[in-house]
Amino acid sequence: MRVIAIDGPAGAGKSTIAKALAARLGLEYLDTGAMYRAVTCAALQRDIPVDDLSAVTELARTMALDVDDRGVIVDGVDVTSAIRTPEVTESVRWIASNSDVRTELRNRQREWADAHGGGVIEGRDIGSVVFPDARLKLYLTASPRVRAERRVAEAGGDVDEIERAIASRDDSDTSRADGPLREAEGSRVVDTTGLDIDQVLEAIVRLLEENE
Ligand code: DC
Repeated sequence: MRVIAIDGPAGAGKSTIAKALAARLGLEYLDTGAMYRAVTCAALQRDIPVDDLSAVTELARTMALDVDDRGVIVDGVDVTSAIRTPEVTESVRWIASNSDVRTELRNRQREWADAHGGGVIEGRDIGSVVFPDARLKLYLTASPRVRAERRVAEAGGDVDEIERAIASRDDSDTSRADGPLREAEGSRVVDTTGLDIDQVLEAIVRLLEENE
């Protein structure tokens, strides 16, 4: 099974690069952040408090969740846009720090990889916990300012405010007890500051060739 794990902080370019790399290598692509967002979105829609550990775990275990390149479907409803609202982005840290939810979603990620014969999988703990034996483990990063500027170019907003929100999310991502964001053992760090998509892709393809 050929798994390429891509981890790193918000705004480092993971999704763009993961999709482009998957297309180039003829592999499927999985956005695991969308899974944490989908559980958050479903909890908010059902008035389940995001800090109610057991209710959220029950939700994560029982919901039908389908994530693919076309979008995200929860219990038959398309939530592709709904998972990107500021409310979901603000609340997702509660879901991501729930260890039982992490166990459930990690199982689903491994089942997905089995069913697809591997893939390019992006998140925060993919190389460190979910697929420690991945063919290539990448840690994509960029300066906080550049990450904020990229978000503003995509979706608008104030760059200082977004930089602060990104720093706060970095804090909660790196400090949670279960699956904190960190460079996995054996991972290759790619700093995308000042590089365009093609340059990042070329750097990754070179790393892949070195690893084969
Ligand atoms: O990549 P993203 O911003 O859409 O991810 C949303 C949140 O989900 C992010 O704050 C961290 C969390 N996440 C996680 O804890 N583990 C993953 N494998 C992927 C995302």
